[in-house]
Amino acid sequence: MSDGKFSLEQIREHWTRQALEHGPSPAASWSDVGVIEMEIREISRYMVDGERVLDMGCANGYSTVQFAAQKRIVIRGLDLIPEMIAEARARLPAVEAGLRGVVDFDVGDITRLSDPDDSYDKVVVIRVVINLGDWRRQLQGLGECIRVLKPGGLLLLSEATLQGWRRLNTFRREWGLSDIPMPPFNRYVDQEELCKAVAPRLELLELLDFASTYYVGTRVLKPLLAQALGAAVDVANPRMEWNRWFAQLPAAGDYGTQKLFVFRKA
Ligand SMILES: C[S@@+](CC[C@H](N)C(=O)[O-])C[C@H]1O[C@@H](n2cnc3c(N)ncnc32)[C@H](O)[C@@H]1O
Repeated sequence: MSDGKFSLEQIREHWTRQALEHGPSPAASWSDVGVIEMEIREISRYMVDGERVLDMGCANGYSTVQFAAQKRIVIRGLDLIPEMIAEARARLPAVEAGLRGVVDFDVGDITRLSDPDDSYDKVVVIRVVINLGDWRRQLQGLGECIRVLKPGGLLLLSEATLQGWRRLNTFRREWGLSDIPMPPFNRYVDQEELCKAVAPRLELLELLDFASTYYVGTRVLKPLLAQALGAAVDVANPRMEWNRWFAQLPAAGDYGTQKLFVFRKA
């Protein structure tokens, strides 16, 4: 495509490859396990025993089962890619004994859900809207999530935002670091445009820049320190103690590309 962005078919191929390459690992969804763990921690806080939850775009179910390990919920994980769902189902026998909730997985497309209206207390969407190719499909996907949510229910949406991404790159530029590019299979959301588009069906309760400190630590301080010391470290390695430590610090600032929107359905 002329703007360097992937077509829908290329996006599908990308996620199929990720499923086959990474199996049950969280890396099937994203290499940055630090942010994944923070997302699970933040989103779990909103789940309540007894609820019905949809984990839309659940990939290989890594996060889905952790939600069910923490809360006595009935959670359904749906993903477009059959290979992701095969991995998600394959992980269940080994973990089921440790779950408090009930989990099931199926293939499903966020833009065309088969569930009836008002089915879920909570709908979780983690880094899925940015994978839908264009704004029209992003709105369609959000519309479906709103439709299946019960009135008063929460949409817990963790997505990469243009605002956070630009702010982080501004910070990097001050110190001579190059901009971090947007991956060709993603279209980050404009947080203001998004909130305007879903109103008045959804009310924004909170917009959490939960990973801001982590982004500064791992995308600004870490490369700068490595450069200044000439240290032989793989700056992109998310499994370093450096990353683990920054993932435990309280969030400060607005430098997180990834943000959590907490919306309530009217
Ligand atoms: C970045 S991964 C996010 C995985 C997971 N939510 C997590 O927390 O790790 C994006 C997922 O969205 C899925 N996806 C892409 N387009 C989709 C669609 N139209 N409907 C449902 N899932 C889709 C991909 O297959 C992939 O598993």
